Amino acid sequence: MATIRPTGSACGAVVEDVDLTHDLSDDLTRQLTGALYDHRCLVIKNQTLTKDAYYRFAGEWGELIRHVLDYLRMPGFPEMMAIGNTETKDRDPGVRNGAVAWHTDGSYIEDPTTITMLHAVRAPRRGGETMVADMVAAYEALDPALRSEVDEMTALHYYGRAEVGPDENPVIPIKTEAQATTNDVCEKPLVLTHPVSGRRALYAVAQSPFQINGMTEIETQHFLARLKTHATSADFVYDHRYEVGDILIFDTLSTMHRAKGNIEAASTPEADNARLLWRLSAKGLPKVHRHLAA
Ligand SMILES: [Fe+2]
Repeated sequence: MATIRPTGSACGAVVEDVDLTHDLSDDLTRQLTGALYDHRCLVIKNQTLTKDAYYRFAGEWGELIRHVLDYLRMPGFPEMMAIGNTETKDRDPGVRNGAVAWHTDGSYIEDPTTITMLHAVRAPRRGGETMVADMVAAYEALDPALRSEVDEMTALHYYGRAEVGPDENPVIPIKTEAQATTNDVCEKPLVLTHPVSGRRALYAVAQSPFQINGMTEIETQHFLARLKTHATSADFVYDHRYEVGDILIFDTLSTMHRAKGNIEAASTPEADNARLLWRLSAKGLPKVHRHLAA
């Protein structure tokens, strides 16, 4: 079994003494999913997975999904995206910095993303961190009157339609009609009960929600800004600085995340500031928990 200890920060746990190329037992998966739902995100250290081995591991966590922005998919591995600063597409700062804003992967999809993982193949000496906000803790810390209010609320979502803050970038742009129409507007509650842990969390209060039902557009913007400011305060945020070999996994139903700051392009994949994260996302439940699906 793996060794797991809390990060010591607001959330997250560090996983060591495991080799995911060889060990994919149900017992290990149960240990990891339990730790994930207890801590919201995991950092699995010292992995050197091939793309095929990474797919096998990620497939234990749900059904792998393809991102709506098809121009970011990796050739031959269409569920995988190369998040970084070394490729031709990354010369566009709008692409390279499209995650420099709080968001929840797949919150704009009817059947939402339940997990995302990022495997660090190249890690910059400085910068390029991912911040993860604990939306369970944020929910539980709400004033009880406000908590009862959000318990009843639903919002309409569409990719990139929410307002961004002054220290954030717009989302990576939709470029084609096909991408624009892949996911129609969908409705989600502002508070989700996790299908495995049963814990309640604020859900996706940034990037895609643009209309809280029963509010005007201006009221929606002010209310979401208030929730987002609360949920992303330092009390709830773990700030992950990558080392090569890390796999950062976050439970997208109970977290938001963002790239910490604007990232410079790297001149070569070997440069000190080169950053390359292999990203996979899945929907549905991990295989070991599928009996809980409705
Ligand atoms: Fe993301």
